[in-house]
Amino acid sequence: MATDIDRILSRSNQTHIFQFLDCLPATERQALIDDIARFDLVQLAALHAHHQATCQAPAHQQSLQTVEALRFTPSPASQHERRRMHAIGEDCLRQGRVALFLVAGGQATRLGLQGPKGCYPLTPVRQKSLFQLYAEGIRALQLRYGRPLPWYIMTSEDNNAATKSFFEHNGFFGLEPDRVRFLVQQQIPSLDIDGRLIVGRNGKLFTNPNGHGGSLQALHDSGALADLAAAGIEEIFYFQVDNPLARIADPLFIGAHLEQRADMSTKVVSKTDPHEKVGIIGRIDGRLGCIEYSELSPAEACQRSPDGSLRFSSANIAIHVLNRRFVEKLVCQAAFSLPYHCALKQIECLAVDKGRLCPLTIQGLKFEMFIFDALARDERSVTREVSRAEEFAPIKNRDGADSPATARRAMISLHTAWLRGAAPAASLPDDLVIEVSPLYACDAESFQQRFVAPAQLSSPLYFE
Ligand code: UD1
Repeated sequence: MATDIDRILSRSNQTHIFQFLDCLPATERQALIDDIARFDLVQLAALHAHHQATCQAPAHQQSLQTVEALRFTPSPASQHERRRMHAIGEDCLRQGRVALFLVAGGQATRLGLQGPKGCYPLTPVRQKSLFQLYAEGIRALQLRYGRPLPWYIMTSEDNNAATKSFFEHNGFFGLEPDRVRFLVQQQIPSLDIDGRLIVGRNGKLFTNPNGHGGSLQALHDSGALADLAAAGIEEIFYFQVDNPLARIADPLFIGAHLEQRADMSTKVVSKTDPHEKVGIIGRIDGRLGCIEYSELSPAEACQRSPDGSLRFSSANIAIHVLNRRFVEKLVCQAAFSLPYHCALKQIECLAVDKGRLCPLTIQGLKFEMFIFDALARDERSVTREVSRAEEFAPIKNRDGADSPATARRAMISLHTAWLRGAAPAASLPDDLVIEVSPLYACDAESFQQRFVAPAQLSSPLYFE
């Protein structure tokens, strides 16, 4: 008699799995069956069919328009607006209506380190990890606004245990442990080109994390959204693990978002190199969205405005404020759910040859949801342009552009500028290595207020 799994596999054209089941020892066989039963194979077949139907089409064909970004000028009126929005954001923080949400499902493998990316030792003087840096920023905000800031960290199956134990071993970097919550994002099976499930080298179903768009579902599934509602928290400040200059809970950004009664807002920096690997925030067929650099045609990437600047220059730095009710809509109403994107990738897996398991490397399909697709669903939004030197130093590669070395240099330049602002007459060494803990200051203004010249301004300099 056919078992449930036999029926499921037969109905969904996944009968090649029978060969694997025949080859695996009993415990692994059951584990593979249990794993497959976790997933909706009908949804996977639909994703594959959608990929087949669209993969021949050229990358984006829609019309792309620029988007007006919020900037402030030195004029008194503009500065007045800036102060007003800043005050709105600060009020919101003082009332405890903001939660922080870090997406940290990625590993540091590309940086040449085993383990979660957030554990990467980065800062120029103390070699603090990214997690420690963010934790210190949050402690500083809690002191300033006199309210605890709940911090949700999204991990993946790959790095959840390691992330938690890193925090535990380091005493949560001085934060109250019950204010830091870890959510695990869902996995989704990768498929081969023909839409068949893949068995990984470990004999298990080959899956990948479902993308940072899956973070919203993780907020819901973990009960975090309900907790936020119960605590009267209305806004969620979202940031990525790989940007040490991220200005966490920036009151001006929060204030601008609240002022517009926006569903979701985004920070951008000006893109100056047409080939920089960033997404562009723009209007795609009239709806707000993000076009990845790989989908922008070379002509579009290089197109210039009359003043000589790049036409599509609003580079997404993946910092958002999302309204909690909007997130509820995105995860609870089918019409609002985020689409899956598909990417080809090399997958190390197993094959069955003459009744035996053997290793193989194939081109497979990986499915992911992207948070920025939620922009197309929102009614109101703020796109806020900020200074790259002050807020964006991504760490993507081991060497070269967007690496730990460039991020350290960016931190040193920024903190040197703060020091020069506070001590204009001081003579500083050319090769100054400086680090300012967020517990000391979070911007030029707060640095100036705190600054007391040390006996000697020699390198390395550390302020805490
Ligand atoms: C991303 C954006 C890009 C933006 C750039 C800014 C995408 C597709 N593109 O590029 O528009 O200009 O950041 O730095 O996102 N993550 C998870 N779970 C996942 C996948 C990712 O938590 O399943 C987290 C990673 O840990 C990381 C962040 O999301 O913090 C970004 O992911 P990554 O794949 O590095 O995006 P990029 O291609 O660098």
